[in-house]
Amino acid sequence: MAKTLENRVALVTGGARGIGKAICERLASEGAAVVMVDIMPDVAEQSAAEFRSRGYDAMAVGANVASLQEAEDTVKAVMEKYGRLDILVNCAGITKDNLLLRMSENDWDAVIAVNLKGSYNFIKAASRPMMKARYGKIVNISSVVGRAGNAGQINYSASKAGVIGMTKSVAKELGSRNIFANAVAPGYIETDMTRALPEEARKAFADAIPLKRAGQPEDVANVVYFLCSPMSDYVTGQVINVCGGFLM
Ligand code: NAI
Repeated sequence: MAKTLENRVALVTGGARGIGKAICERLASEGAAVVMVDIMPDVAEQSAAEFRSRGYDAMAVGANVASLQEAEDTVKAVMEKYGRLDILVNCAGITKDNLLLRMSENDWDAVIAVNLKGSYNFIKAASRPMMKARYGKIVNISSVVGRAGNAGQINYSASKAGVIGMTKSVAKELGSRNIFANAVAPGYIETDMTRALPEEARKAFADAIPLKRAGQPEDVANVVYFLCSPMSDYVTGQVINVCGGFLM
């Protein structure tokens, strides 16, 4: 039986590790060629090589999502290699947490530049070939804190709320071209990003989750796959929480 994403080409930012890598794995296992875009080119290449050794079609590109030029160059390279771009997942993200009064302007700017502008950059670059092809699935990784807010994360929560607004606007603007845009809002997922948190903070997070445990990158990847697959062909402009019931 043909795989559901056979002949599809997927670009995943932040694809070198964590949730992005799990998304690449899920999409590749369904037959898509995956382009793993990351600011850590060596780690991205290592992950792509690992995928290729398992028979997947995978390519690594080193790029900073905060640069529109690098986004455009990346999409150009994908079009040169594959001649199409069907799926875009904006997953690259950073945190620079601090309470409002201690948050530096640099930390505000850096988080907005990567999480919010980075998503704009890749949507803008990818939408051209998608519009031409009259097909595209865009999934933006937001966060439950973009919906609920979180003390100590005004920059991060603003960037992730912005991603939700952008997702809905893109869905409205490009729906008539058969381009879908949805967001996934993960809760507490075990990755390098959250492993950096102190033990007490991680325990407090887990206690507040109805399922009483952290999620895994694969839990997010499954929902992203759904939104990239034909199973979601009447779903656009939506935000799906993947958070063990933390936010309802
Ligand atoms: P991670 O830190 O393990 O992975 C993030 C990836 O993005 C890394 O490979 C990193 O090199 C890349 N990256 C960072 N800045 C970049 C830039 N300027 N250009 C290109 N690539 C860049 O983090 P994790 O946990 O896998 O997070 C992935 C996404 O999920 C992020 O957008 C994060 O905000 C979001 N998220 C994560 C949650 C969690 O609990 N881990 C919860 C909610 C959302």
